[in-house]
Amino acid sequence: MRLLVTGGAGYIGSHAALALLEAGHTVVVVDSLERGCRASIATLGSLGGGRFHFEEMDVRETAKLTSVLRDHAIDAVLHFAALAYVGESVTEPLRYYDCNVGGGISLLRAMVDAKISRIIFSSSCATYGAPTAAQLPLREDAPQVPVNPYGDTKLVMEGLLRSACASGTPLAAAALRYFNVAGADAQCRIGEQHQPETHLIPITLEVALGRRSALTIFGDDYPTQDGTCIRDYVHVSDLVDAHLAALAALEIGQCKAWNVGLGCGHSVRDVVESCRRVSARRIDVQFAPRRAGDPAVLYADPSAIKRDLGWHAKFSSLDAITASAWKWMNRGSVPTA
Ligand code: UFG
Repeated sequence: MRLLVTGGAGYIGSHAALALLEAGHTVVVVDSLERGCRASIATLGSLGGGRFHFEEMDVRETAKLTSVLRDHAIDAVLHFAALAYVGESVTEPLRYYDCNVGGGISLLRAMVDAKISRIIFSSSCATYGAPTAAQLPLREDAPQVPVNPYGDTKLVMEGLLRSACASGTPLAAAALRYFNVAGADAQCRIGEQHQPETHLIPITLEVALGRRSALTIFGDDYPTQDGTCIRDYVHVSDLVDAHLAALAALEIGQCKAWNVGLGCGHSVRDVVESCRRVSARRIDVQFAPRRAGDPAVLYADPSAIKRDLGWHAKFSSLDAITASAWKWMNRGSVPTA
């Protein structure tokens, strides 16, 4: 197939582009490089040869995007391009709506103009907001009441896709609701390198490496067993597998939604312990007040994606995920497989 990957210079988008190239597909990456990594594009270019193309542009450039879709005779779109920092979305909501919703509308317009009918959308468990204990583990039909603008933008996009699919426009969509994604390509060709880095696992491992003096844990007074937030960590390669499976299951006129998580909740303290185990290094922690927009507990019920798509996680433990991230952070000093 010929696939457009928006945000393909980003962490998850670049891992998806790599997997698609390895599966024999032709991949066109569109990325503004506002947050994306130019080195990942270079890597994809060297691995993909004539089957990889890169357009440095914003998805809000609708006319240009329509031309890219037409010129490359695209069969389906994987839409990763978005701003994705919960905390930043609280202080800069307009920017988040503009990029995430404005970008999504532009992409759908371009797809309609170019007569492209299949899309996989990167949604988020942030659309569930702060669920009650009775709503956990989260099924896809749990109430979606986001508690931060980032989650709002993902929910708006899900609604837009549902409406567009129901409108008679020939469109097939799937929204994958990611839980907390971590880890890297097994051969360390690409990995997680956000600028700035705000995510728990890479920051904790940077402490292990001595690049930071301590991990600051945001809040130890949550209503959880050890007082820290609980999340469901999933390996990026397993997440990418879910995209490939969803792509094969798209049906015109339908907008589907699946959770992508392991179904296990781990606290921030659990993650620190796991990082200590896999790195065998000292990791100091300090405590600070809660971070704005953080729900206490989020973990998935992944039975729908297992049942419908036959998906299962190859990285099935927290240590397997943190070990993958640790290997990436040590690239250069640890031999790659
Ligand atoms: N945390 C710390 N210290 C840090 C970084 C994170 O204590 O230095 C805590 C956070 O407060 C949170 C947990 O670690 O409780 C996980 O935080 P991350 O920033 O790694 O991940 P989030 O859960 O905030 O965000 C992730 C994705 C979002 C997605 C969201 C859904 O990055 O894109 O999950 O909740 F929307």
